[in-house]
Amino acid sequence: MARSDRASGRIRVWDPWIRLFHWSLVTAFFVAYFTGDSVGATHEWAGYVALGLVAFRLLWGFVGSGHARFADFVPGPNQLIGYSRQMLRGAEPRHIGHNPAAALMILFLLAAVIVISVSGWLLTTDWGWGSETIEQVHELAVDTTLVAIALHVLAAIYESFKHRENLIGSMFTGHKRR
Ligand code: HEM
Ligand code: HEM
Repeated sequence: MARSDRASGRIRVWDPWIRLFHWSLVTAFFVAYFTGDSVGATHEWAGYVALGLVAFRLLWGFVGSGHARFADFVPGPNQLIGYSRQMLRGAEPRHIGHNPAAALMILFLLAAVIVISVSGWLLTTDWGWGSETIEQVHELAVDTTLVAIALHVLAAIYESFKHRENLIGSMFTGHKRR
């Protein structure tokens, strides 16, 4: 930890790659979303960029730094049940890395982007072109993911108030208070 961090009581939680990954994924997702009505190169490339970013994140979950690793935040069933009970009592503890509920949502979002982009790609192949089933998978996955993203953002805001810290700001700066 840098001396300035020790002095200011801050800890570095998210490495630069995680932060770049997150905000690039947000951008790619919404570019793809808002070009969904007139599908062309921009839509397809934004979708492939989102898929590439998720592939990078899966790799980084094994070789990345501290709190980026899956081993650091993917919860086991007992941890998840324990945390949910604490949440119901309004007594969930603060986590420096991702909390178990956030972790579950993160895994869901990563999987959802894969389903959306692969189904989108299939629609461009000879095999999948014109398939109503694949179109429905693509659209349903997008709609479900939008609901998940809304929950994801609301949860980040709620936990920020609860623990008096700015979790969204931390995704930009990489730091949290000790
Ligand atoms: C403007 C909208 C968004 C905001 C404000 C936001 C905010 C955040 C915050 C604060 C975290 C850290 C949570 C924690 O401290 O545990 C996070 C993590 C994450 N978010 Fe978002 N998010 C947004 C949109 C999205 C979207 C659209 C996706 C994917 C489609 C997404 C996927 C993720 C993932 C995968 C992580 C884990 C970061 C990592 O460890 O790599 N987010 N987000
Ligand atoms: C994060 C990634 C993506 C998002 C958020 C997304 C979002 C959307 C949305 C909102 C629509 C309009 C659905 C409707 O008509 O109601 C759409 C349609 C479509 N997308 Fe994507 N998409 C993504 C990735 C991709 C990729 C990678 C491809 C292909 C390479 C693709 C190909 C298509 C095609 C061909 C359609 C038209 C399907 C139809 O006629 O209903 N998408 N997408």
